[in-house]
Amino acid sequence: MTKNNICELLSIKYPIIQAGMVWVSGAKLAAASANAGILGVVGAGSMSPELLDLHLKKANLLTGNKKNLAVNVPLLYSKTKEQLEVSLNNGIRIFITSAGSPKTYTSWLKDQGAIVIHATSSPELALKCENAGVDAVIAEGFEAGGHNGRDEISTFALIPQVVDALSIPVIAAGGIADARGMAAALILGASAVQMGTRFVNTIESSAHQNFKEAILKASPSETMLMMKKYVPVRLLKNTFYDEIKNLEDQCATQEDLIKHLGHGRAKKGMLEGDLVHGELEIGQIAGMIKDIPSVHDLVHQIINDYSKLTLSKF
Ligand SMILES: Cc1cc2nc3c(=O)[nH]c(=O)nc-3n(C[C@H](O)[C@H](O)[C@H](O)COP(=O)(O)O)c2cc1C
Repeated sequence: MTKNNICELLSIKYPIIQAGMVWVSGAKLAAASANAGILGVVGAGSMSPELLDLHLKKANLLTGNKKNLAVNVPLLYSKTKEQLEVSLNNGIRIFITSAGSPKTYTSWLKDQGAIVIHATSSPELALKCENAGVDAVIAEGFEAGGHNGRDEISTFALIPQVVDALSIPVIAAGGIADARGMAAALILGASAVQMGTRFVNTIESSAHQNFKEAILKASPSETMLMMKKYVPVRLLKNTFYDEIKNLEDQCATQEDLIKHLGHGRAKKGMLEGDLVHGELEIGQIAGMIKDIPSVHDLVHQIINDYSKLTLSKF
């Protein structure tokens, strides 16, 4: 395989996106990814505009202002516009928006000369993204770590249906962590893949060491999609998960769930390493992850394996 259209669009050597992830993908991870020839994404979801500014300055420094740096902005926070402006002021030209309507900021971002990719979980929603004018969509199956669609469409079923419905490039996400998953997604018609769970367990991710080690021990059946009444999220099972499950089994309302959640559970779990009371967002593919490599080594392993599998070179 030679460079495809998405590689040109995103200024990347390999069609891989390191997912933007709350509490996990700061400057270090995004810069290491950009330097390894894939799209490095700073996850703005857990950052104030001021903190995002610091991370982007650091990422620019670590990469020498590479073009293949992007920001993921979930569209549900009150400071979304400031996050977008801070990113533009730091020279970011690639935006991955999620968790909101693609209509809200796409045309404004395009007017600023940006490339916009929106993350979605069904062919119907993907079509809305295309109609809103995005350059590409991320189609994320229900295997994925983090927040998720309510329709529970798995990656294998989702990708070909989104590819058939759209005329813009489709990036596959959810349950992809090695060359086999990448080859399967590209054969299904995706132009690139986005990996989240795999990049949580890299040296440069800011996930706490306790969280990384819990992933090494996780069995494939140890994640579950929870909180479908509120914000569906795939979690690693722990005491926090048990508490949510009990509440859901007792038909808790959205208000009950919000009250129990309180604030800062995701930070407590993923950044501070509280494996008991913290929220641990991770995908089904966690069961396959048995190491914590550097981003450089991980990307080169995937690309070498991909070349052997498919006899194609990038
Ligand atoms: C720890 C974690 C945090 C995440 N945070 C975000 C986020 O802030 N914004 C977002 O759009 N997606 C988020 N995601 C989803 C990823 O962007 C990605 O689409 C997903 O991880 C892909 O599936 P995989 O985990 O099976 O690789 C998160 C995923 C994980 C594992």
